Amino acid sequence: MNDVYQCYAASAFGMEGLVAGELKRTGAGNVSAENGGVCFSASAQELFRLNLLMHFTDRLFIVLYRGPCRSFEQLFTLVQEIDWPSFFSGDESIDVTCKCTRSVLMSPRDCQSITKKSIIEKLRRKTGRQVFPETGSSLPVHLSIRNDEAMIMLNTSGKALSRRGYRTWNGEAPLRETLAAALVELSGWRPGQPLHDPCCGTGTILAEAALMAAGKAPGSDRPFAMESFSCFRKLSLEQIRQTVLSQADISRVSGISGSDIDPEALELARRHMRQAGLGDGTVSLECIPLQELKLEAENGVFICNPPYGERLGDQKQCRALYHDLFLLKGRHPGWRLCAISSDPAFERSFGKKADKKRRLYNGRLECVYYIYN
Ligand SMILES: C[S@@+](CC[C@H](N)C(=O)[O-])C[C@H]1O[C@@H](n2cnc3c(N)ncnc32)[C@H](O)[C@@H]1O
Repeated sequence: MNDVYQCYAASAFGMEGLVAGELKRTGAGNVSAENGGVCFSASAQELFRLNLLMHFTDRLFIVLYRGPCRSFEQLFTLVQEIDWPSFFSGDESIDVTCKCTRSVLMSPRDCQSITKKSIIEKLRRKTGRQVFPETGSSLPVHLSIRNDEAMIMLNTSGKALSRRGYRTWNGEAPLRETLAAALVELSGWRPGQPLHDPCCGTGTILAEAALMAAGKAPGSDRPFAMESFSCFRKLSLEQIRQTVLSQADISRVSGISGSDIDPEALELARRHMRQAGLGDGTVSLECIPLQELKLEAENGVFICNPPYGERLGDQKQCRALYHDLFLLKGRHPGWRLCAISSDPAFERSFGKKADKKRRLYNGRLECVYYIYN
């Protein structure tokens, strides 16, 4: 199977540019960003490598159809046009998910069942088989209908790529791994420079930075749906994984540290570092309130996800903490400080306008990433 597929990298709003940049750096073809995702082309082997390597995208798909869709009849017909037998060996379980946004067809459940009915109908006609026991591995099909345009796709990742596998205990308000990686990338920090998260919680920002410094692919320790697709059985995907894994070197991690006021969160952070294969002590973690924090290095980058007053603590306390971040920056004049918050009063509470701002989403929460040089 040396086919080159039309593909789609789903991403959170605000992160499309980062996803497109990473796709270009890793050699994907025809990269073009749009709202909520990035189109590109790749072979199955390249897609597998991208699943292992990509830091910021949510899922990678093969696009089987893209075009207008305004009725159930039209949906049934266009699903029929797809060459399902080339992806289906006979006993996979066909798992259809669906999301409808601003469209005439607004019932995901109905769209899901029509899509599945149409796939089975096509398989019956093409293979002559009447019964599909669906006892085999999953063939995850995703249908997205947005502004009356349907995209019918094969989900090659399976569960979201943010689930690297190292974070098994979540603490109170953890950050999705893809967003944590984006915060590190957008901060301008580069491996080798000191990096400190002064309210590190369960350590997601630190783990992502350390994985980048080690050159360890974020997907190294997790499976992907496409590994069990029968159509890709003959490809040496395991060999691709081993080649990517062999490029990691944990001894390259240096100068990454974190602190938090909560000892339990720090315990979880230690556990997550171990589970990310970073070992004890690679990232140093200390229980210390940021009001008392004083680091020795003359320059570096603070990256943090302080409480927003929405999910943790109350607003007044959080706003006082934002001013404490300003004082922390004052004690470390050679350090850049980068913080994400959904609180519109962040800059006012901090006490200074940011040098750079970027809108990002933490789940459904609209946030701004503030960068102070
Ligand atoms: C939104 S959580 C950070 C979550 C983290 N990014 C993660 O992935 O788990 C905010 C953190 O700020 C910490 N915090 C609150 N006040 C603090 C203070 N005065 N000094 C240091 N840390 C503080 C909390 O204990 C909490 O872990």
